Amino acid sequence: MSNAVAHPAYDYRTVRHFAIMAVVWGIVGMAVGVLIAAQLVWPELLASEWTHFGRLRPLHTNAVIFAFGGCTLFATSYYIVQRTCHTTLAFPNLARFTFWGWNLVIVLAAITLPLGMTTTHEYAELEWPIDILIAVVWISYAIVFFATIAKRQTSHIYVANWFLGAFILVIAILHIVNSVQYPVSFTKSYYVWSGAMDAMIQWWYGHNAVGFFLTAGFLGMMYYFVPKQAGRPVYSYRLSIVHFWALIATYMWAGAHHLHYSALPDWAQSVGMVMSIVLLAPSWGGMINGVMTLSGAWHKLRTDPILRFLVVSLSFYGMSTFEGPMMSIKTVNALSHNTDWTIGHVHSGALGWVAMVSIGSLYHLIPKVLGIAQMYSTRLINMHFWLATIGTVLYIAAMWVNGIMQGLMWRAVNPDGTLTYSFVDSLEASYPGYLVRVIGGAFFLLGMVIMLYNVYMTVNDAKQQDTIRDTSEPEPAAA
Ligand code: HEM
Ligand code: HEM
Repeated sequence: MSNAVAHPAYDYRTVRHFAIMAVVWGIVGMAVGVLIAAQLVWPELLASEWTHFGRLRPLHTNAVIFAFGGCTLFATSYYIVQRTCHTTLAFPNLARFTFWGWNLVIVLAAITLPLGMTTTHEYAELEWPIDILIAVVWISYAIVFFATIAKRQTSHIYVANWFLGAFILVIAILHIVNSVQYPVSFTKSYYVWSGAMDAMIQWWYGHNAVGFFLTAGFLGMMYYFVPKQAGRPVYSYRLSIVHFWALIATYMWAGAHHLHYSALPDWAQSVGMVMSIVLLAPSWGGMINGVMTLSGAWHKLRTDPILRFLVVSLSFYGMSTFEGPMMSIKTVNALSHNTDWTIGHVHSGALGWVAMVSIGSLYHLIPKVLGIAQMYSTRLINMHFWLATIGTVLYIAAMWVNGIMQGLMWRAVNPDGTLTYSFVDSLEASYPGYLVRVIGGAFFLLGMVIMLYNVYMTVNDAKQQDTIRDTSEPEPAAA
């Protein structure tokens, strides 16, 4: 915990590469998102064998979660772990391998999914040879991250690293257990799990992918970048530790809320429901800790669009982690399940929380790893902020209206017991919402394109000023 550490040469090369690819993959994944949103309004759009909705949807989810989210997590974790441990990355060449390996996984996903090669398990669609590559890259990632922690020059391990460490460990376990398959050819395999067991393992995986990939990792980011950008210490360090243990102890048990009213034993569904409701407490503890970190720095929101991204992401985190527990109550789920309400919930988490906290963190990090004072244009960051916020609100409001309307239409019955509406009636009623989603998605995507331009110009500035180095001043231990 001292400032007496000799100036270490931070290894920013891999951080820079991941950060830039995060923006590029963000645009690709979201462009596919806008395309599939448009296909739900105009079904004949690009309706070829390889580009119809069914094939492009998993391409969208893989690209936004694992390519955009994944590259952001690699970039920020390699950055945070070095700076808070006052040391350079352990095994820099292995770190470089994780960059090329992860991007190869993404390219292979972009080729195989449109070709229809899929295991059919949501968020785990990639076939077994790619699964093996993912495992190798992930284990390398774990080695680099934990070895860097092991050679730290500080006595303390800053809380952001706890969240990042848990995310790395849990994703390794989830991926390996949920990918146990019998290969029957190079491009086809069958799961060893079957029936209700298969469903339970899949949603133990699926929910914890949300909990650890889309939440714990991004909370690690939040605990580093919010205090940094606000120029304030974390509101309560004690709360951050309680937050950590409560969150990781609870998430594991909640996955069964994806399987309400299914063949899963009733008691398991109830455990899933109860643990999901409990999950509200640690989630909000973390959200409040993040927001309160701004105490004494609220005025900065007037001039700092990066801080706005970070604070708004926390509001959406709070919103989606309130909505999730409500949707896990069985009677509420009876209305929400299979409707666009779920899609609205997903994107209030995905766009509002995951994408916004990523964007804010990347805007903070990119100038630092380029050795330059700030991004090329703050005005463009501000424009991006408004496009992203308006885009998210349009998207999720449209899906909430659609979802509740669909749920109510599907359950409406006439006095004689027949259904009041056909499925097609509910589909027709959903079109206005689908159109609003295309517009909201296009807003969000436009913001990302502006970000890419801003990043490109910032790299140009750094090249002109010849500031790109792998060295930096150490900073005081964050606490
Ligand atoms: C421009 C922004 C985006 C647009 C227009 C968009 C659009 C869509 C559409 C149309 C679907 C299919 C919905 C359905 O099947 O009815 C979808 C699904 C999904 N998207 Fe996005 N998306 C965007 C950004 C993101 C981001 C940034 C993430 C994650 C970080 C994300 C994660 C997901 C997930 C997980 C699903 C599957 C949801 C489920 O199965 O319940 N999306 N998206
Ligand atoms: C306390 C926290 C949360 C709880 C208890 C929770 C609960 C739920 C519930 C009950 C569903 C609907 C399941 C169904 O009817 O099929 C759901 C779906 C989903 N949630 Fe959450 N949620 C939480 C937070 C989040 C966050 C922060 C994100 C994103 C960053 C997220 C992403 C998703 C996704 C992707 C799905 C759709 C899964 C699928 O069917 O493909 N959730 N969640």
